[in-house]
Amino acid sequence: MQFLFSNQKPDSLKVDTLVINIFEEAANFVGELGKIDKALGNILSEEVKASELKGKLYDTLLVHTHSKISPKKVLLVGSGKEKEFDNDKLSKIVGATFRSLNKKGNQSLAFFLCGSHDFQERISLGVEAVITASFDPAIYKSKEEEKKEVGKVTFVEATLKDPRKASVAIKRGELVGEAINWARHLVSEPANVLTPTKVVEEARKISRTYQLRMEVLDEKKAKAKGMGAFCAIARGSDESSYMLSLQYIPKSSKTKTVLGIVGKGVTFDSGGLSIKPSDKMEEMKMDMAGAAAVLAVMKIVGELKPSIEIISVTPLTENLPSGKSIKPGDVVRAMNGKNIEVVNTDAEGRVVLADALLWAQEKGATHIVDLATLTGAVIVALGHEVTGIMGNSEAWVKQVLDAASESGEKMWQLPTFDLYKDLLKSSIADYANVPSSRQAGSIAGAMFLLEFIKEKAAWVHLDIAGTAWLEGEKPYLAKGPTGVGVKTLINLIKDIEK
Ligand code: BES
Ligand code: ZN
Ligand code: ZN
Repeated sequence: MQFLFSNQKPDSLKVDTLVINIFEEAANFVGELGKIDKALGNILSEEVKASELKGKLYDTLLVHTHSKISPKKVLLVGSGKEKEFDNDKLSKIVGATFRSLNKKGNQSLAFFLCGSHDFQERISLGVEAVITASFDPAIYKSKEEEKKEVGKVTFVEATLKDPRKASVAIKRGELVGEAINWARHLVSEPANVLTPTKVVEEARKISRTYQLRMEVLDEKKAKAKGMGAFCAIARGSDESSYMLSLQYIPKSSKTKTVLGIVGKGVTFDSGGLSIKPSDKMEEMKMDMAGAAAVLAVMKIVGELKPSIEIISVTPLTENLPSGKSIKPGDVVRAMNGKNIEVVNTDAEGRVVLADALLWAQEKGATHIVDLATLTGAVIVALGHEVTGIMGNSEAWVKQVLDAASESGEKMWQLPTFDLYKDLLKSSIADYANVPSSRQAGSIAGAMFLLEFIKEKAAWVHLDIAGTAWLEGEKPYLAKGPTGVGVKTLINLIKDIEK
């Protein structure tokens, strides 16, 4: 797909469909929109009145222009209340209109969008939204006769003076959008294809392309390093498992902050001997969505070359029952010497992350964000559109929340009061990996991880079990993997650089 920008009048663009957004309070037919309405014999304003199009989010009105202006069709799209038109809504209306117009005979689209965004941001977010909206998770469907896709998308910025800035914005949008789709592709891949070995191969490509330092520990090396927690989960699977790290070191840096990003990479979670019910078990190929997001971020980092050091760690393994697998009640020892009673083998994420978090700190991470499809409980608490966020430093939590809100990703904080530590008491070891009752499931997961964070490190845990996978499609996104977390981390890196 080709992305362009234009500072010409929108009515002079030779495109199949011109998309214009309108707000709830005033479908104000003034300015360029007024001109277009007039040229079309007031059909837009009359239709809006007649159909009572109120500008609600995703409401649309499509009219043919019968050559009265250059675009063949005009699509008005509701954008909600003007005051509430944030980055998230901007992305959503662009994605939704793209999905509704793609494969419907449109070769070229132009977006003429109003709102309070600065134009670079609007273009970046727009490009990114079009790319993520065009992702098709049906990667193994034999291609029938392909319907023609939109080939050209233009963003109209009437007051644009500096075209170079627009090009930069387009490139950034493409970079982020494509990295998100790359992560979604990995998550879509079935577990027989996307094994831990395959993930390591993908990471090796990234490391070669961008000269990132890569360290891979196979099970033997991980064991020698004392990663008894990670290895205990890995034992049950016949696939090779790996603890993987990519490291980006900037040419120069003004900050002492070393960002550690840690992603759960369980390429299939059957639950192990505490086996899951078969209903929806197939979706557990997505239990590596955290690792996919982290690797996608490293791809973007390789391109953008920010001025801070970034260390990624992704524990990669399956969680399967077998004659070798870990049994409920087994006690395993993490890299810091602490013993964990694995009461439930389905709470495997926190067990492999224990060693991953310790390794990230050993490598020098001072500020950590982990992304993990950790608990079903977070779906009960927050649903599928809001990520659970927990941490040990209010300042760091706030910084991540700010980055999330800037990126349009919704997150909500859950508490990590000391009193929750009691949930993980074991009668035989330092900790149990699950509480004895179902209370505070997501917090219990976080409290467990917190035990493996050293005092000096600032840590945030993102429980993406609900948000990494859409059970049904949205107007702006196909069902399946979402690539959640990538945008927030990229904004976070930008903020730390400042
Ligand atoms: N990978 C799952 C969590 C999950 C659930 C991810 C639904 C995506 C969608 C995790 O390993 C798990 O099984 N957690 C258990 C923890 C429990 C045993 C304390 C859960 O949530 O049931
Ligand atoms: Zn599990
Ligand atoms: Zn899991």
